[in-house]
Amino acid sequence: MDKIVALSKRRGLIFPASEIYGGIANTYDYGHYGVLLKRNVVDAWWDAMLQERDDVVALDSAIIQHPKTWEASGHLAGFTDPLVDCKTCKRRFRADHLDEARADADAHPDVRCGRRPSRLPGETDECELTEPRAFNLMFETSVGPVKDTGSTVFLRPETAQGIFLDFKTVLTFARRRPPFGIAQVGKSFRNEITPGNFIFRTLEFEQMEMEFFVPPEQAADWYAHWKQARMDWYAELGIRPDHLRLRDHDPDELSHYSSGTADVEYLFPMGWSELEGIANRGDFDLTAHAAASGKDLEVVEPDGRRYVPHVIEPAAGVGRSLLAFLADAYDEEAVEGESRTVLKLHPRLSPVKVAVLPLVRKDGQPELAREIHATLKRRMQAEYDEGGSIGKRYRRQDEIGTPWCVTIDHETLQDRTVTVRDRDTLAQERVAIDALPELLSARLAA
Ligand code: GAP
Repeated sequence: MDKIVALSKRRGLIFPASEIYGGIANTYDYGHYGVLLKRNVVDAWWDAMLQERDDVVALDSAIIQHPKTWEASGHLAGFTDPLVDCKTCKRRFRADHLDEARADADAHPDVRCGRRPSRLPGETDECELTEPRAFNLMFETSVGPVKDTGSTVFLRPETAQGIFLDFKTVLTFARRRPPFGIAQVGKSFRNEITPGNFIFRTLEFEQMEMEFFVPPEQAADWYAHWKQARMDWYAELGIRPDHLRLRDHDPDELSHYSSGTADVEYLFPMGWSELEGIANRGDFDLTAHAAASGKDLEVVEPDGRRYVPHVIEPAAGVGRSLLAFLADAYDEEAVEGESRTVLKLHPRLSPVKVAVLPLVRKDGQPELAREIHATLKRRMQAEYDEGGSIGKRYRRQDEIGTPWCVTIDHETLQDRTVTVRDRDTLAQERVAIDALPELLSARLAA
């Protein structure tokens, strides 16, 4: 993980937020290449939901919803972590993560008590903990100039609830009947106490969630369908199959709304951890919001049958997926006696698809290279770079995962051909300038 964090910072993909003030726990900013990579992850998800299917529609609901939302959804009462305090060093921990952290105390120096005075015989340096107490993960704020009981609102801890609130409206304007889904990408917020592993667990994060509404008797089949579809999505974007697995939750792990959940898990540097959850939420949410709002959220079929749809929900995190893609793509290898770090990202995800590099900064090479760059960037994210030795420029592109580098040399000016270097095989081929846009577009689409 340290290497991924270092590369992310070195190349300006992701770095700690508020760094000039010493940072803020579990909060990160995305720089230029990080933004491009994130956008590609989100685009790939939208493509899988919208472009490649015709039974899902899009939505962008508000982050701050009516406070009754969270009462009805069960988040106000049930969206809690068990917290313990250390009586000596006054730090806070999640009780349900402590045993695991203590078992691997070397990787979690935070579980050792920072302020315990010199140890007595038989005493450990572990924190002295209070009994666990429930701590709600929702961020609370207030609306309007006066802070009173009626003004309290919450930043959404999941995007899903906005979808349930809009279900009936979407049903009408999208002219759909179950089975169909509503998909949404947006920020969610959780007051997480556990120190995250880089961007694995952060205070604010983007979710990619889709609520798939089905007739109750079809729920089991659609649950199976979505588990497979989501596993396939990661595999198609290059995650190694032996780094991916599906794990069904034990009954005591289920969220308050779920009658069945499976996690897509990835073998992160810190071990197998949740990448995405696929839940069978039953009719929990629509029934709860219908009762709390007094609105009818049933579906009426043409034959007059009425029912509250059941919901299958694949819920993924943008940052967490991105971390898995980074971890899976990260490689270090020896090339001609030198070591190179390379991100072997799927080209669809690579922040930059092609870098255009004049071999030298003279003899008309930069001018021609800029022309080629201008042509290519109409089709794909392309970067022009003339600074530093060609070797250094290749390394820079390898580190941000650029699949192809186009080099303009003295031959180019004579025969209008360039070299295309492949990031993974390092093979170099000579290609006519005129054939370049089609060739790269075809490779990108492959
Ligand atoms: N609507 C269901 C839901 O929110 P979840 O398992 O709590 O379920 C879904 O969250 C996904 O959102 C997780 O699998 C993870 O990828 C991402 N996620 C959740 N909390 C996160 C956090 N604090 N930081 C980063 N990603 C998070």
